[in-house]
Amino acid sequence: TLKIGLLTSGGDAPGMNAAIQAITLAAAHHKLTCYGFHHGYNGLINQDYCILAPDNVTNIIHQGGTILKSARCPEMMTQTGIKQAVSCLIKENIDALIVIGGDGSFNGMLAMQDHWQGKLIGLPGTIDNDLDGTDFTIGFSTAINTAINAIDKIRDTADAFDRVFVVELMGRHSGHIAFNVGVACAAEQIISFENFDPLAQESKLAKIIADIEQQKQNKAHSYLILLAENLWPGGAHALGEALKQQGNIDVGICVLGHIQRGGSPVAKDRILATKLGVAAIEAILLEKSGIMIGECESKITHTPLTKAIQHQKIVNDDLINVYDSTASHMS
Ligand code: F6P
Repeated sequence: TLKIGLLTSGGDAPGMNAAIQAITLAAAHHKLTCYGFHHGYNGLINQDYCILAPDNVTNIIHQGGTILKSARCPEMMTQTGIKQAVSCLIKENIDALIVIGGDGSFNGMLAMQDHWQGKLIGLPGTIDNDLDGTDFTIGFSTAINTAINAIDKIRDTADAFDRVFVVELMGRHSGHIAFNVGVACAAEQIISFENFDPLAQESKLAKIIADIEQQKQNKAHSYLILLAENLWPGGAHALGEALKQQGNIDVGICVLGHIQRGGSPVAKDRILATKLGVAAIEAILLEKSGIMIGECESKITHTPLTKAIQHQKIVNDDLINVYDSTASHMS
């Protein structure tokens, strides 16, 4: 029988457990043996694994995080690390490896491709939604719902004080989280990679201060500025401080951080993860390799791993237009 290896790698994402469950159950259904490697690629390097049988994955579909644990693995950037990982797959006679993760994790698979004949299948697991070849990544829907719930609460207190808030959101280098959350929370400002050039920092600051002044005259209440991480030098704290200093504005600052990565996956992530997990096993049975399984317009898709990570998936223009036409900002 075929032996399948499975690992979760990079930033964990709600729904990874649902994918682990689906892969384990579908593997058992087709009488394949499933090996779960612990702590991402470290599990291969350290030969740290368990056998995943249906009994091991009961009652996990609703849990955040990943029962296999995750890690970022710098050793996979080195030839020695890659060869160690491959030698474990060879030693255990693994026929196919499924990696659930983001672009860094897919790079690890591409590096192994030159040294290993087995099948390599990627599943998009990241809250950032930045992979090409799938409409949604596993974890994104939960992350935006979590952020929306948190920001609704911030809006309440901001409103009570007619206060300005800067809220920093994750997303690494893309604005899928920022724009989706911003539209869903009717944020007055969304500052993200798609609509802001860090070189234009001073003019942006001046425009925001002018807009806040204008809003005050119009007797508007709270004012929410959503800021994508890794963009404004110094992040939300620096932006908040600049608004205080230069605009004499009372600003609350909140970095949502890893709250966005945790929690029970929403229905959309559980269902997506389950569909993609089953499709991964089916792809292996069809002898596919070097692909990411995704879902576009409700259809399962196979995208070469190289293409999935070649260009970061861009934020939908319509969504950016919706923000441009509804927010009260001066862009
Ligand atoms: O890729 C997921 C993500 O949460 C990004 O949004 C964020 O930039 C990064 O991981 C944070 O990584 P770490 O948990 O290693 O600090």
